Amino acid sequence: MTSNISIMQGVKSLKAIDVEGKKVLIRVDFNVPIDSHGNITDDRRIRAALPTINYCIDNNACSITLVSHFGDPKTPNDPKFSLKLIVKRLERLLHRRVEFIEDFEASKNEIAACSLERVFLLENIRYHAGEKKNDPELSKKLASICDVYVNDAFGASHRKHASTYGVAEFVETKVAGFLMMREIEAFAKALENPVRPIALVVGGAKISSKITLLKSVLGKVDKLIIGGAMSNTFLKAMGYDMQGSRYEADFVETALEVMQEARKNSVKIYLPVDVVVTDSIESPIDVKEVPAQDVLEGFKAVDIGPATVKLFSEAIGLSNTIIWNGPMGIYEIDKFSKGTFKIASAIAECYAYTIVGGGDTADAVDRAGEADNFSFISTGGGASLELLEGKVLPGFSLLDRADKED
Ligand code: 3PG
Repeated sequence: MTSNISIMQGVKSLKAIDVEGKKVLIRVDFNVPIDSHGNITDDRRIRAALPTINYCIDNNACSITLVSHFGDPKTPNDPKFSLKLIVKRLERLLHRRVEFIEDFEASKNEIAACSLERVFLLENIRYHAGEKKNDPELSKKLASICDVYVNDAFGASHRKHASTYGVAEFVETKVAGFLMMREIEAFAKALENPVRPIALVVGGAKISSKITLLKSVLGKVDKLIIGGAMSNTFLKAMGYDMQGSRYEADFVETALEVMQEARKNSVKIYLPVDVVVTDSIESPIDVKEVPAQDVLEGFKAVDIGPATVKLFSEAIGLSNTIIWNGPMGIYEIDKFSKGTFKIASAIAECYAYTIVGGGDTADAVDRAGEADNFSFISTGGGASLELLEGKVLPGFSLLDRADKED
């Protein structure tokens, strides 16, 4: 059976085409986090796009136009979501000037006037109402400013939007950038021919958002290690009184089904045996470690406890492939971050192939100071989750195929 990964692996890469003299449109994901002063707090996504941009520059593309979304503006032209914020950092990383284009239709002729080494960055594509609707009119307009479309926005490749998907219908040559290829190869290594045993470490707030993932991996992994608020729902299903802890009452039944299904598939499930509990998340006065079945009245579980760290670390240490998606607790708050950071270190120390989903988990790995010690950190949160769920991501689906003759 052809897997979703092998379908995506089969797309044509930028390496396979000639960009000399061509107007190249590159969809990047510059949706980077910023602080309240508008400073970029993590530029990994910008750095991850550089190989593709530099390749087009080095291979004499006539012009390079970068397209991205930035946040999710609800009103057009909200300055909080302007990609202008990115320009300086991009120029510094690229070592060249980047021309910012507020209205690409008005600047069409300028983009079309071939002149080597010009790099344009378009204003937030989500300022256009047609972007999220995958409006063919917007797709056509984007297609009209290029000869070649390169999708390198892995982080947005699960979105069926005009710039990530629809535009490819109207451009003759459409290929994947180097980041897209790197991401898909990294996941292929973990999922297609993994060195076993393979463990999925999963956390985060909700079962409901990861239920497809849980069900789809049961046939692939050997161990399922569950932490975060998500594990509260499993503990509740086991009959524990979780008191004020966050759990999803509607998914207790689902948690039971996952446990049954795991048993049928001989997948070993690991759940917290102890938890860190607090009287309050916002202003904690009383924080304790208690057995998972003994959450105190009026308290809530916010992190995994030390015995769980030990249990999970041992299971992780005996795995040869480890995929991690979702923190073990409220890691943004110092007092509740230990479990997540210790699991980050346990995975980092393994002699295994270790891969981390983007978003919160990548942020947690960074904060734990372990970013250099993982085999691969994805730039996509939602995208890596959907990929693990077994989907073919729309950002890949309309690209040229490597196996197809031109
Ligand atoms: C992300 O940050 O996960 C991607 O850039 C996609 O952003 P979105 O969730 O706003 O579509």
